[in-house]
Amino acid sequence: MSVHDEKILILDFGSQTTQLIARRIREQKVYSEIHPYTLALDEIKALKPSGIILSGGPASVYDEDAPISDPALFDLGIPILGICYGAQLMMHQLGGRVEQAKSREFGKAQLCITSNDSLFAGLETAPANHQIWMSHGDRIEAIAPGFLVTAESDNSPCAALRHEEKPFVAVQFHPEVAHTLIGTDLLKNFIFTICNCKPTWTMHSFIESNVADIKARVGSDNVICALSGGVDSSVVAAIVHRAIGDQLTCIYVNNGLMRSGESESVLSFFREKTDLHVIDVQAESYFLDQLAGIADPEEKRKRIGYGFIKIFEEEAGKLGEVKYLAQGTLYPDVIESVVFRGNAPIKSHHNVGGLPERMKLDLIEPLRELFKDEVRELGLELGLPEEAIYRQPFPGPGLGIRIMGEITEERLHILRQADVIVLDEMKSSGWYRKVWQSFAVLLPIQTVGVMGDGRTYEHVIAIRSVDSRDAMTADWSQLPYELLGRISTRIINEVRGVNRVVYDISSKPPSTIEWE
Ligand code: XMP
Repeated sequence: MSVHDEKILILDFGSQTTQLIARRIREQKVYSEIHPYTLALDEIKALKPSGIILSGGPASVYDEDAPISDPALFDLGIPILGICYGAQLMMHQLGGRVEQAKSREFGKAQLCITSNDSLFAGLETAPANHQIWMSHGDRIEAIAPGFLVTAESDNSPCAALRHEEKPFVAVQFHPEVAHTLIGTDLLKNFIFTICNCKPTWTMHSFIESNVADIKARVGSDNVICALSGGVDSSVVAAIVHRAIGDQLTCIYVNNGLMRSGESESVLSFFREKTDLHVIDVQAESYFLDQLAGIADPEEKRKRIGYGFIKIFEEEAGKLGEVKYLAQGTLYPDVIESVVFRGNAPIKSHHNVGGLPERMKLDLIEPLRELFKDEVRELGLELGLPEEAIYRQPFPGPGLGIRIMGEITEERLHILRQADVIVLDEMKSSGWYRKVWQSFAVLLPIQTVGVMGDGRTYEHVIAIRSVDSRDAMTADWSQLPYELLGRISTRIINEVRGVNRVVYDISSKPPSTIEWE
């Protein structure tokens, strides 16, 4: 049986939480995929979903250009769950009525279940109340023929509905968010009871089917992979290696912008603890030369990206015939989300962009279907150690975008020492794994200080630590004052050239995680 024999299809109407729906379902070991609401009926049929979820979204069903899926969806005989906008659309398309609510509901609300079957099987009915999370300006005023109300909230007399004969259910609230305490029970009832899925999508089955796919696709050809030591490239290398062994060559480029001791530890890990064939290129001076005198962030990024591609290409060229490039594209990069506001790219992130076309390489992207936390789970299942799996993300341009302005050896030296202290303190206090990323940034402006009896005029280190799920948004971490104090004291005492430490308390947006 293929791992995708059973899947839940999510049609995205633009909600901020559509990805969360997919994650919640996958947590139950059922595969789920997100597509734009415009997906054609034939394509929907071809996917053979066991169930369909209509996501929430910011529109109103009575808007002239409201996003609407093909109403023939309801004739396929496939179970359908409508969430928020999806619930309103279901009513609208099947003969009910949706109107602007007099009192909008945003945030926590109390749900009273009136019928504990179907979606609510096993849950307590009135007088019990359940905490849910609402976010809607419209509400269902008249239900479509054949439906009955199964739950209500203060401002939504039709907070949940089900069809009396067909497998259609709808909720006005968001079961996918953690604030809806019964959300998981409800999604489980949908996927296991209403859609009849089995919990077969495990990392073990994922590995088996992917290893077989990679083997069949690659045959006796050669594959290269850019290994950075980060989670994604390590996991890609591990799964491709499991499939084709020594036909895979990994290339590690030291661009001189790594954290202290990073290159050595990445290389010794892969060489001593795995069977991967890793070529390393020590290119510190090449990169520093390319970056000399450059202060503009985009120009720095471009030069680092270009240098990486050039070196990678040269090394790959030495290997003879190579047909494939394995890379760690993740599911969030693949989902064609419905975007209601056009977003221009903020920074030019680079991986190995441009390489595949220039070198005529075909891509192998074994992580295309996975979210970051699933990649970690996969890595553990492949036998990578926790220290490799739970590393915080580190950007391709490395410390180059954590030194404001020009990059010099002296500045790199200062930043590396400060960064070691941040990591050391984060790890020993147990905070390293609680936050998304934590690091030091060097501000090579000078400020006045006093040390001993003398005046100092030295640089500033900014500490950045953020909490995030996927780096799209982030909050600054509320680290204990005592920990921040220790980091500050140690940096000022131990790092020559720094006399001031500040903590960055900006969230993303409007700031970004990295400073450049
Ligand atoms: P920003 O600064 O855009 O960062 O909020 C979001 C996440 O992406 C990482 N980042 C990069 N990763 N190449 C990468 O591989 C890049 O050029 C790059 N720039 C930022 C950043 O560390 C954070 O996790």
